[in-house]
Amino acid sequence: MRETSEKKNNTKAKLWIDLLIFVVFLVAMDPFSTGIAVHEWLTIASMAAVVTHLLLNWQWISVVTRRFFSKLATRARLNYILNLLLFIDGVLIMLTGVMISEAVLPSLGLRVPLNFAWRPLHDATANLFILLLGLHTALHWDWIVRTVKRYLVQPFARLKPAKQAEQKEAQA
Ligand code: HEM
Repeated sequence: MRETSEKKNNTKAKLWIDLLIFVVFLVAMDPFSTGIAVHEWLTIASMAAVVTHLLLNWQWISVVTRRFFSKLATRARLNYILNLLLFIDGVLIMLTGVMISEAVLPSLGLRVPLNFAWRPLHDATANLFILLLGLHTALHWDWIVRTVKRYLVQPFARLKPAKQAEQKEAQA
């Protein structure tokens, strides 16, 4: 079956948004290299990408939510539970991050009373996210390989022979 151009654009948008979220997450996992201010503002700004990711996958979310307690493939049910855990853990990372904020909250003139639990909780929820993201990636591996090949590798492979022909023509 041929993909419509709307579906193609949707898949491409999903790929770029997912790559963006992945890179932001990698950067966020090393706050001392970027500095805490970049860590905080970058992760807060990345919520826009997360919301876009949810909107792009909204059809799947609403269909599986409606069918969750009726007829549904085991893989989809498993996927749904994992995605829900990812979402909850993501919210906890952000909340605990805000509770220990050293840049964003002070810049807004806000202060939260210090509590020694937030820091280890922030660390633990971030580490749990790595595990959940690994499982999420594994479950979507076929889609990732297929989409990267189609929208990232193939367009470059097609460009190469055209470029070589251009160079040969210029040399002749
Ligand atoms: C995707 C979201 C986030 C991830 C994956 C993440 C991850 C991490 C990690 C791995 C650490 C280092 C923990 C350690 O080495 O012990 C850290 C530290 C920190 N995070 Fe986040 N974080 C996120 C969001 C946020 C947000 C939204 C804020 C605040 C607005 C924040 C504030 C902080 C602060 C202040 C520290 C340093 C605490 C210290 O001084 O040692 N984080 N984060």
